Amino acid sequence: MLSVKGIEKSFGGIKAVDASFLEVKEGGTVGVIGPNGVGKTTLFNIISGFDKPDNGAIVFNGENIEGKMSSEIARLGLVRTFQLSKALTKLTVVENMMLAPQVQQGERIWNVWLRPREVKRQEDENRERARTLLEIFGLLSMKDEYAGALSGGQKRLLEIARALMAEPKMLLLDEPFSGVNPTLTKKILKYMTELRDEGMTFLVIEHDMHIIMQLSDFIYVLNKGEVIASGEPEEVRNNERVLDAYLG
Ligand SMILES: Nc1ncnc2c1ncn2[C@@H]1O[C@H](COP(=O)(O)OP(=O)(O)OP(=O)(O)O)[C@@H](O)[C@H]1O
Ligand SMILES: [Mg+2]
Repeated sequence: MLSVKGIEKSFGGIKAVDASFLEVKEGGTVGVIGPNGVGKTTLFNIISGFDKPDNGAIVFNGENIEGKMSSEIARLGLVRTFQLSKALTKLTVVENMMLAPQVQQGERIWNVWLRPREVKRQEDENRERARTLLEIFGLLSMKDEYAGALSGGQKRLLEIARALMAEPKMLLLDEPFSGVNPTLTKKILKYMTELRDEGMTFLVIEHDMHIIMQLSDFIYVLNKGEVIASGEPEEVRNNERVLDAYLG
């Protein structure tokens, strides 16, 4: 579903990412791990169109997406969440949902005059979808609160719910469990399992080795921008280079 080949990115002459190869199969949950500052988020930024690579190719569902804009990539079905929750704190929970990237008829300005009924229908549909998602994620009772009033864990739930507004085929999650208490972590894991059962594909960055081993069916290990190991959780767990990178 997703393949990343020869992606390179430098900042001021320093190489942040040099990912020779990474692949995600449809329906899979692939983990990306590695110590602090090795380029995991930069790689996600590049895949999701928030940053441009210096070199390399990214193919999503048969289409080259490297260098495309994030909104265009989202429309193709590839949506990401952010490491630092981007929920706009001065907007309410439901307003955050309505602002999510989605195929919005209303955005095409002419439609407002030319096809008002269509726009209204789309808006109603989006509102209904937002409600349903907030209910699933246990946030409906907070829908009119400012997003800034949510706990760290609830903001993460909102991020995931918001990403689902676009009806993605694949979700990129950047440390979805960091700063989340154990109860909410369990909840997020449960939602992810349910989404996977419905056919969602995941690429997840995670610090916690234990969680990523539990969650992923395949893992890539980054160190200094490079993929230094990949394989099933069991293989990666016992890989010397991985142990060295983490301990050394
Ligand atoms: N916009 C930028 N300008 C300059 N340097 C950057 C920029 N973004 C990232 N870097 C650098 O690129 C490297 C990789 O950073 P990145 O955030 O991708 O790492 P990470 O693996 O996600 O780290 P963490 O585990 O802390 O989230 C770091 O050295 C960082 O300082
Ligand atoms: Mg990061």
